[in-house]
Amino acid sequence: MHTLKHHEIPGRVQIIQGQGGLPAIQVESAWSTAEIYPHGAHLTAFQKKGEAPLLFMSAASEFHADLPIRGGVPVIFPWFGAREGLAPHGFARVAAWNLLSAVVLPEGPVRLHFQLPSDDEFEVEYLVTVGPTLTLELVVSNIGEADFTFENCLHTYFQIGAIDTLEVTGLQGTRYRDQLLAADATETAASIRFTGEVDRVYDDHSAAVEIHDPALHRTIRVAKSGSCSTVVWNPWIAKSQRMPDFGDDEYLRMVCVESGNVRDHALTLAPGERSQLKVEISSRPLG
Ligand code: BG6
Repeated sequence: MHTLKHHEIPGRVQIIQGQGGLPAIQVESAWSTAEIYPHGAHLTAFQKKGEAPLLFMSAASEFHADLPIRGGVPVIFPWFGAREGLAPHGFARVAAWNLLSAVVLPEGPVRLHFQLPSDDEFEVEYLVTVGPTLTLELVVSNIGEADFTFENCLHTYFQIGAIDTLEVTGLQGTRYRDQLLAADATETAASIRFTGEVDRVYDDHSAAVEIHDPALHRTIRVAKSGSCSTVVWNPWIAKSQRMPDFGDDEYLRMVCVESGNVRDHALTLAPGERSQLKVEISSRPLG
């Protein structure tokens, strides 16, 4: 908390005591506000002025140094999904990240620069830029002496008005792994609609995805670079009930469209190499 206070910028960056006694960073730009916890470098809010919150947060989320936060943007690294005997979705989302700097860019957006506590094998930096859009950049460098293989994913939870009228576009013709059926398929729909649990990893996909939400009269655009995998997830009824940190009805007002490199698209960096995963999230009235 102490050292974090050094990064405060009047009117732009403020350190507060967040939920569960964890420190949190509140950011304000001319266009938007955001909140991020050094615990997991976890973004828990982004909201454009005059618009509904863009990110979904579960009212049942834990806020504890050993547990992931449910909602917002978990940073998934260095593995995606289950790993025998290890924390699902990697340790980055439960690590205490260091805030290296907070700056106001010349054009006005506010940028926070985080780093995962050091490791001999790799260095991980995370840049969060809060402005008219939200830009997230995860930079992994191999600082070791051997090849380093990992998965990464920015697991964005979006707030929506109603799942039953939601449409997600930008994935037609893309091969995917259906994680529920453990089977491969190709997306035939121009617009994905939700009538049950969806848990799909789309492969070789680097295009933008749009989330069209008539209930909030909003289209959210997720544009990315340095990412070959797009994950689309909604837990629907039974899985919502099984998750202790997620409300039974919350699946109605959220969808995850995640950007990263997972499964067959895991990345391997030779010593000295670096990778950059960049996601830019914007929104506009539904046209
Ligand atoms: C998604 C996975 O990315 O994350 C799902 O595709 C998983 O299978 C979901 O259920 C949530 O994972 P967790 O570990 O945060 O409960």
